[in-house]
Amino acid sequence: MKFAFFDAKAYDKPSFDKYGAEEDIRFKYYETKLNEDTADLAYACDGVCAFVNDTLSASVIGKLASLGVGIIALRCAGYNNVDLRAAETYGIRVVHVPAYSPYAVAEHAMALLLTSIRRIHKAYIRTRDFNFSLSGMTGFDLHGKTVGVVGTGRIGRVFIDICRGFGMKVIAYDKFPAQNTDIEYVSLEELFSRADIISLHCPLTDETRHLINCDTIKLMKKGVVIINTSRGALIDAECLLEGIKSRQVGAACLDVYEEETDFFFEDFSGHIISDDILARLISMPNVIVTSHQAFLTEEALNNIAETTVQNIVQIMRYDACPNELIFSDGEILHGTQK
Ligand code: NAI
Repeated sequence: MKFAFFDAKAYDKPSFDKYGAEEDIRFKYYETKLNEDTADLAYACDGVCAFVNDTLSASVIGKLASLGVGIIALRCAGYNNVDLRAAETYGIRVVHVPAYSPYAVAEHAMALLLTSIRRIHKAYIRTRDFNFSLSGMTGFDLHGKTVGVVGTGRIGRVFIDICRGFGMKVIAYDKFPAQNTDIEYVSLEELFSRADIISLHCPLTDETRHLINCDTIKLMKKGVVIINTSRGALIDAECLLEGIKSRQVGAACLDVYEEETDFFFEDFSGHIISDDILARLISMPNVIVTSHQAFLTEEALNNIAETTVQNIVQIMRYDACPNELIFSDGEILHGTQK
């Protein structure tokens, strides 16, 4: 079997080559992202392997179908970039990797938080220049602070455990609260008004798009710290910038950004960034941006490759896969069984 692998990076290849070889699947690596202009690269391939910033709109899926592509194997958990209705229409199967390391993402969220509030990013640069002054370095204790977690799935729950280890009080909001748990669920409005720190761990849907916007920022405590390791469009970036400028938002830790597709994963160090909001956010001393790297641990990369290969094998050999995404009667179903 041959798969066109889009948005390939050097760190993807060892694990995908290893697990692919075990099942006779050859990945053809392309550095370019999948979109209407590049879809033809999947010519003569059984499927495509795509990532978070590849475009799988109805027209791209239509093109892939005309090339004979039968499977879209997402090597990520989120699938907001895939038109599942179009995939269903064209008879293309879609599989994803629902979980590969919740620890990777939750630990990154905490790393961003600690870096931000203890000014580690500033200290690192200062001491390299032999500047040992502590002025402007005052942080605050996490112990005793209230963290509001939006989305208490796999990653959200690991993040809650980490926060509890720091002696923080946890409140949470989830559209589908977990049963039999000691998590204190509150309404979204209450979470916004009580939390010192807000961390987003819900998926991007029509309902959650711009969950953090100019109105909801007004409900928050002055100086709130906002962490987003989920999907960029959960936050209206323009409103976040205004919130930071007005000091309503004390700090922002962003691993994702609404318009990240054109920038993240690439080196723009010699260029002038055309996105003024991103440039302004990055210029702020209390904003930390990482380039969608929360998933990037050795453990996660191995799990992603192994699960992706197994997803493909299950569809091709057994015509059923627990990680299949199916659009049916306006709903997204998870997993096919035979
Ligand atoms: P999950 O599916 O285990 O948990 C998501 C939780 O969000 C569920 O409890 C669900 O009930 C809840 N939810 C659904 N709709 C909601 C709504 N409208 N409001 C509030 N909560 C809602 O997903 P998991 O594995 O914890 O991942 C969470 C998100 O993290 C993914 O959707 C993905 O976007 C992001 N992610 C980011 C990565 C990165 O590298 N930055 C890597 C992996 C995932």
